[in-house]
Amino acid sequence: MTKDSESPVYIFDSKLLDDLDLSEYGIKFESNGLSPCKPEPGIIIRPLSTHDFDKGFTNVLSQLTRLGDVSKKDFLDRFQGMQKAGCYYPLVVEDTEANEGQGKIVGTGTLEIEQKFIHSCALRGRVEEIVIDSEYRGRKFGKLVLGLVTALSKKLNCYKTTLECKVENIPFYGIFNYKEDSEKFMQLRFRD
Ligand SMILES: CC(C)(COP(=O)(O)OP(=O)(O)OC[C@H]1O[C@@H](n2cnc3c(N)ncnc32)[C@H](O)[C@@H]1OP(=O)(O)O)[C@@H](O)C(=O)NCCC(=O)NCCS
Repeated sequence: MTKDSESPVYIFDSKLLDDLDLSEYGIKFESNGLSPCKPEPGIIIRPLSTHDFDKGFTNVLSQLTRLGDVSKKDFLDRFQGMQKAGCYYPLVVEDTEANEGQGKIVGTGTLEIEQKFIHSCALRGRVEEIVIDSEYRGRKFGKLVLGLVTALSKKLNCYKTTLECKVENIPFYGIFNYKEDSEKFMQLRFRD
Protein backbone atom coordinates (compact mmCIF):
# COMPACT_ATOMS: atom_id res chain seq x y z
CA MET A 1 0.00 0.00 0.00
CA THR A 2 2.78 2.46 0.85
CA LYS A 3 6.52 2.60 0.51
CA ASP A 4 8.49 4.06 3.41
CA SER A 5 9.53 7.03 1.27
CA GLU A 6 5.90 7.99 0.63
CA SER A 7 4.06 10.55 2.70
CA PRO A 8 1.96 9.07 5.48
CA VAL A 9 -1.74 8.46 4.86
CA TYR A 10 -3.96 9.28 7.83
CA ILE A 11 -6.93 7.07 8.61
CA PHE A 12 -9.25 10.07 8.99
CA ASP A 13 -9.01 13.81 8.55
CA SER A 14 -7.17 15.33 11.51
CA LYS A 15 -9.27 18.50 11.11
CA LEU A 16 -12.00 16.57 12.95
CA LEU A 17 -9.89 16.92 16.09
CA ASP A 18 -9.11 20.62 15.70
CA ASP A 19 -12.00 22.15 17.60
CA LEU A 20 -12.55 19.50 20.25
CA ASP A 21 -12.94 21.28 23.57
CA LEU A 22 -12.19 19.29 26.69
CA SER A 23 -12.75 22.15 29.13
CA GLU A 24 -16.06 20.63 30.28
CA TYR A 25 -13.89 17.82 31.69
CA GLY A 26 -11.58 20.27 33.42
CA ILE A 27 -8.85 19.99 30.75
CA LYS A 28 -7.61 23.42 29.70
CA PHE A 29 -4.51 24.65 27.89
CA GLU A 30 -4.01 28.34 28.30
CA SER A 31 -0.54 29.11 27.03
CA ASN A 32 2.37 28.42 24.67
CA GLY A 33 0.21 27.13 21.83
CA LEU A 34 -0.38 23.84 23.66
CA SER A 35 -3.70 22.05 23.15
CA PRO A 36 -5.28 18.60 23.69
CA CYS A 37 -3.64 17.43 20.41
CA LYS A 38 -0.30 19.06 21.32
CA PRO A 39 -0.11 18.71 25.09
CA GLU A 40 3.67 19.03 25.51
CA PRO A 41 6.50 20.18 23.25
CA GLY A 42 7.37 17.18 21.03
CA ILE A 43 4.18 15.28 21.82
CA ILE A 44 1.26 15.15 19.39
CA ILE A 45 -2.05 13.27 19.38
CA ARG A 46 -3.31 12.57 15.86
CA PRO A 47 -5.08 10.00 13.66
CA LEU A 48 -3.27 6.70 13.05
CA SER A 49 -1.11 6.77 9.90
CA THR A 50 0.38 4.24 7.50
CA HIS A 51 3.85 4.99 8.95
CA ASP A 52 2.93 4.04 12.50
CA PHE A 53 3.78 0.35 12.27
CA ASP A 54 7.43 1.40 11.95
CA LYS A 55 7.01 3.81 14.85
CA GLY A 56 6.04 1.06 17.28
CA PHE A 57 2.23 1.16 17.21
CA THR A 58 1.92 -2.58 17.74
CA ASN A 59 4.40 -2.49 20.60
CA VAL A 60 2.04 -0.14 22.45
CA LEU A 61 -0.99 -2.33 21.71
CA SER A 62 0.88 -5.36 23.05
CA GLN A 63 0.93 -3.61 26.45
CA LEU A 64 -2.86 -3.91 26.53
CA THR A 65 -3.50 -7.48 25.45
CA ARG A 66 -2.15 -10.38 23.39
CA LEU A 67 -1.16 -8.89 20.05
CA GLY A 68 -0.44 -12.12 18.13
CA ASP A 69 1.51 -12.09 14.88
CA VAL A 70 0.97 -8.83 13.03
CA SER A 71 3.30 -8.14 10.08
CA LYS A 72 3.60 -4.76 8.40
CA LYS A 73 1.44 -6.09 5.55
CA ASP A 74 -1.20 -7.25 8.06
CA PHE A 75 -1.14 -3.77 9.61
CA LEU A 76 -1.52 -2.00 6.27
CA ASP A 77 -4.30 -4.35 5.12
CA ARG A 78 -6.23 -3.75 8.33
CA PHE A 79 -5.56 -0.01 8.11
CA GLN A 80 -7.02 0.03 4.59
CA GLY A 81 -10.07 -2.01 5.67
CA MET A 82 -10.77 0.33 8.57
CA GLN A 83 -10.28 3.41 6.43
CA LYS A 84 -12.68 2.08 3.80
CA ALA A 85 -15.29 1.23 6.45
CA GLY A 86 -15.18 4.87 7.54
CA CYS A 87 -16.35 4.25 11.08
CA TYR A 88 -13.00 3.75 12.85
CA TYR A 89 -11.22 6.64 14.52
CA PRO A 90 -7.93 5.39 16.01
CA LEU A 91 -5.78 8.05 17.66
CA VAL A 92 -2.11 7.77 18.49
CA VAL A 93 0.15 9.69 20.83
CA GLU A 94 3.53 10.31 19.18
CA ASP A 95 6.75 11.41 20.82
CA THR A 96 8.11 13.17 17.73
CA GLU A 97 11.58 13.63 19.23
CA ALA A 98 12.16 9.96 20.14
CA ASN A 99 14.34 7.67 18.01
CA GLU A 100 16.57 10.56 16.93
CA GLY A 101 13.63 12.49 15.58
CA GLN A 102 12.08 9.55 13.71
CA GLY A 103 9.20 9.51 16.19
CA LYS A 104 7.71 6.84 18.43
CA ILE A 105 4.10 5.87 19.10
CA VAL A 106 3.58 5.97 22.86
CA GLY A 107 -0.18 5.66 23.21
CA THR A 108 -3.38 4.93 21.41
CA GLY A 109 -7.16 4.79 21.74
CA THR A 110 -9.96 4.20 19.25
CA LEU A 111 -13.50 5.41 18.73
CA GLU A 112 -15.69 3.05 16.71
CA ILE A 113 -19.09 4.13 15.48
CA GLU A 114 -21.99 1.77 14.86
CA GLN A 115 -25.01 2.64 12.73
CA LYS A 116 -28.38 1.73 14.29
CA PHE A 117 -32.03 1.62 13.26
CA ILE A 118 -33.12 2.19 16.86
CA HIS A 119 -33.28 5.61 18.49
CA SER A 120 -34.32 7.11 15.15
CA CYS A 121 -31.44 5.60 13.18
CA ALA A 122 -28.89 6.79 15.71
CA LEU A 123 -25.13 6.33 15.92
CA ARG A 124 -23.51 4.63 18.88
CA GLY A 125 -19.88 5.15 19.89
CA ARG A 126 -17.58 2.55 21.39
CA VAL A 127 -14.26 3.38 23.00
CA GLU A 128 -11.68 0.66 22.45
CA GLU A 129 -8.03 -0.09 23.16
CA ILE A 130 -6.92 2.80 25.32
CA VAL A 131 -3.30 2.21 26.28
CA ILE A 132 -0.26 4.34 27.05
CA ASP A 133 3.32 3.04 26.87
CA SER A 134 4.44 2.17 30.38
CA GLU A 135 7.29 4.70 30.20
CA TYR A 136 4.89 7.53 29.37
CA ARG A 137 2.10 6.88 31.89
CA GLY A 138 1.11 9.49 34.44
CA ARG A 139 1.60 12.42 32.05
CA LYS A 140 -2.14 12.81 31.29
CA PHE A 141 -1.86 11.27 27.82
CA GLY A 142 -4.41 8.55 28.65
CA LYS A 143 -6.79 11.20 29.90
CA LEU A 144 -6.33 13.25 26.73
CA VAL A 145 -6.86 10.29 24.39
CA LEU A 146 -10.00 9.29 26.26
CA GLY A 147 -11.18 12.91 26.30
CA LEU A 148 -10.60 13.31 22.57
CA VAL A 149 -12.40 10.10 21.54
CA THR A 150 -15.26 10.95 23.90
CA ALA A 151 -15.60 14.51 22.58
CA LEU A 152 -15.31 13.22 19.01
CA SER A 153 -18.17 10.77 19.59
CA LYS A 154 -20.30 13.67 20.82
CA LYS A 155 -19.31 15.84 17.85
CA LEU A 156 -20.17 13.00 15.43
CA ASN A 157 -23.63 12.89 17.02
CA CYS A 158 -23.55 9.56 18.82
CA TYR A 159 -26.58 9.10 21.06
CA LYS A 160 -24.38 7.25 23.56
CA THR A 161 -20.83 6.03 23.90
CA THR A 162 -19.85 2.92 25.82
CA LEU A 163 -16.76 0.98 26.78
CA GLU A 164 -15.73 -2.18 28.57
CA CYS A 165 -13.01 -1.95 31.18
CA LYS A 166 -11.34 -3.67 34.07
CA VAL A 167 -12.80 -2.88 37.49
CA GLU A 168 -9.57 -1.17 38.56
CA ASN A 169 -9.92 1.31 35.68
CA ILE A 170 -13.47 2.42 36.52
CA PRO A 171 -12.24 5.59 38.33
CA PHE A 172 -10.17 6.53 35.25
CA TYR A 173 -13.25 6.41 32.99
CA GLY A 174 -15.31 8.19 35.64
CA ILE A 175 -13.27 11.34 34.91
CA PHE A 176 -15.35 11.70 31.73
CA ASN A 177 -18.65 10.81 33.41
CA TYR A 178 -18.80 7.24 32.15
CA LYS A 179 -21.01 5.41 34.62
CA GLU A 180 -21.48 1.77 35.46
CA ASP A 181 -24.61 0.37 33.87
CA SER A 182 -26.91 -2.30 35.24
CA GLU A 183 -26.59 -4.25 31.98
CA LYS A 184 -24.03 -7.03 32.06
CA PHE A 185 -21.41 -7.53 29.40
CA MET A 186 -21.49 -11.07 27.98
CA GLN A 187 -19.11 -12.73 25.58
CA LEU A 188 -18.56 -16.02 23.78
CA ARG A 189 -14.86 -16.32 23.06
CA PHE A 190 -13.85 -18.50 20.09
CA ARG A 191 -10.11 -18.00 20.53
CA ASP A 192 -7.57 -15.83 22.39
C1 LIG B 1 -5.15 3.37 32.10
C2 LIG B 1 -4.10 4.16 31.34
C3 LIG B 1 -4.53 4.27 29.87
C4 LIG B 1 -3.99 5.57 31.96
O1 LIG B 1 -3.10 6.33 31.16
P1 LIG B 1 -2.14 7.44 31.81
O2 LIG B 1 -1.62 8.28 30.71
O3 LIG B 1 -1.12 6.78 32.66
O4 LIG B 1 -3.14 8.22 32.73
P2 LIG B 1 -3.20 9.79 32.95
O5 LIG B 1 -1.83 10.30 33.26
O6 LIG B 1 -3.90 10.41 31.80
O7 LIG B 1 -4.12 9.86 34.24
C5 LIG B 1 -5.23 10.69 34.28
C6 LIG B 1 -5.88 10.56 35.60
O8 LIG B 1 -6.38 9.24 35.73
C7 LIG B 1 -5.84 8.66 36.90
N1 LIG B 1 -5.62 7.25 36.55
C8 LIG B 1 -4.68 6.76 35.71
N2 LIG B 1 -4.81 5.43 35.63
C9 LIG B 1 -5.82 5.10 36.44
C10 LIG B 1 -6.43 3.87 36.79
N3 LIG B 1 -6.03 2.71 36.27
N4 LIG B 1 -7.46 3.90 37.67
C11 LIG B 1 -7.88 5.06 38.19
N5 LIG B 1 -7.36 6.27 37.89
C12 LIG B 1 -6.34 6.26 37.03
C13 LIG B 1 -4.59 9.39 37.20
O9 LIG B 1 -4.27 9.34 38.56
C14 LIG B 1 -4.95 10.78 36.77
O10 LIG B 1 -5.72 11.42 37.76
P3 LIG B 1 -5.64 13.02 37.95
O11 LIG B 1 -6.07 13.62 36.66
O12 LIG B 1 -6.58 13.27 39.08
O13 LIG B 1 -4.22 13.30 38.27
C15 LIG B 1 -2.68 3.51 31.45
O14 LIG B 1 -2.38 3.30 32.81
C16 LIG B 1 -2.54 2.20 30.70
O15 LIG B 1 -2.22 2.19 29.51
N6 LIG B 1 -2.80 1.07 31.38
C17 LIG B 1 -2.65 -0.25 30.79
C18 LIG B 1 -3.69 -0.53 29.74
C19 LIG B 1 -5.09 -0.38 30.28
O16 LIG B 1 -5.42 -0.87 31.37
N7 LIG B 1 -5.94 0.28 29.49
C20 LIG B 1 -7.32 0.46 29.81
C21 LIG B 1 -8.09 -0.69 29.30
S1 LIG B 1 -9.68 -0.82 30.08
